[in-house]
Amino acid sequence: MENETIYILAIESSCDDTSAAVLRNNKVLSNVVATQSVHEQYGGVVPELASRAHQQNIVPVVHQALDRANIDKKLVSAIAFTRGPGLMGSLLVGTSFAKSLAMGLDIPLIEVNHMQAHILAHFIDADEMKAPTFPFLALTISGGHTQIVLVKDYFDMEILGETLDDAVGEAFDKSAKILGLPYPGGPLVDRHAKSGNPKAFQFPKPKVGDLNFSFSGLKTSILYFIQRETAKNPDFISENLEDICASIQYTIIEILMDKIKKAVKQTGIDQIAIGGGVSANSGIRAALLNAEQDMGWKTYIPKFEYCTDNAAMIGIVGFLKYQEKKFAAKNVTAQARYIIGT
Ligand code: KG4
Ligand code: ZN
Repeated sequence: MENETIYILAIESSCDDTSAAVLRNNKVLSNVVATQSVHEQYGGVVPELASRAHQQNIVPVVHQALDRANIDKKLVSAIAFTRGPGLMGSLLVGTSFAKSLAMGLDIPLIEVNHMQAHILAHFIDADEMKAPTFPFLALTISGGHTQIVLVKDYFDMEILGETLDDAVGEAFDKSAKILGLPYPGGPLVDRHAKSGNPKAFQFPKPKVGDLNFSFSGLKTSILYFIQRETAKNPDFISENLEDICASIQYTIIEILMDKIKKAVKQTGIDQIAIGGGVSANSGIRAALLNAEQDMGWKTYIPKFEYCTDNAAMIGIVGFLKYQEKKFAAKNVTAQARYIIGT
């Protein structure tokens, strides 16, 4: 049993990316992601369009994942899928597909919590990646979530703080929208920020207690600031785009870093692992690397392709659960709200 080779076929469909991956034990053999461009014109994800696109994508994406891994589906030991949290219509596509395939192949089905997967992606065996040791703090930052999680073991996690309103990815995307940038604006704010002055403009930081976050006030203050400045100078945005983006990004990173510092102080744990789409942000990566030098922390940043939504992270959870024989019932259903640790 110890040396058994386990092949996991993993499926992720919680939001607007249809993804399938094949893992051999904790190594990724393939990780195919079909990003849905249909949402760009609406400035955000349209749930009904997302589930329709998942339906179109899922079969070719799974085929491609098996092809690239060079694996016949008869070799697959179990199917792992995202049960939640996410958009109900999107989750249903991946869940029904995974259930049918597991039934057809007569192999176990493994349900995965998407937020747990963002954290456990650190345990994928890949070059340039080192797994954290327990206990560690995870900062999960995405378009849907902002959480500081105390990770005591693979499946023993406790949320220490989270956002009370917008997620940090939304703060990036909504700020970008105010600046007239297309959706998703987070990566564009990051790109423009690179050549800007982060201290050019000041935005207020929210006063939220404990380890919780709030980003909706920041969005409003950016909106008022832009309205005020463009009333005086209609070309304000184009003349100052780099500085505005750098200042927004600087403020968001300060908000995140302040809370992590507080969490480290509170728990005495100084191993920090990040996950979720926003961990692709070059500013947050740099701030964490600096903290290694300045604060003596150990920081863990996953490879880019395992930061944004992907099925490889679902697959690693599948592998870990397979070893513990944590299989799902055949009548398992999707769950739009699904809290880590439940
Ligand atoms: O984890 P993810 O792919 O999907 C969700 O579960 O939400 O995260 C997507 C979010 C979007 O808000 C996107 O704008 C943001 O991650 N994002 C970034 C960067 N790359 C992706 N935000 C800031 N800087 C980036 N480089
Ligand atoms: Zn995600």
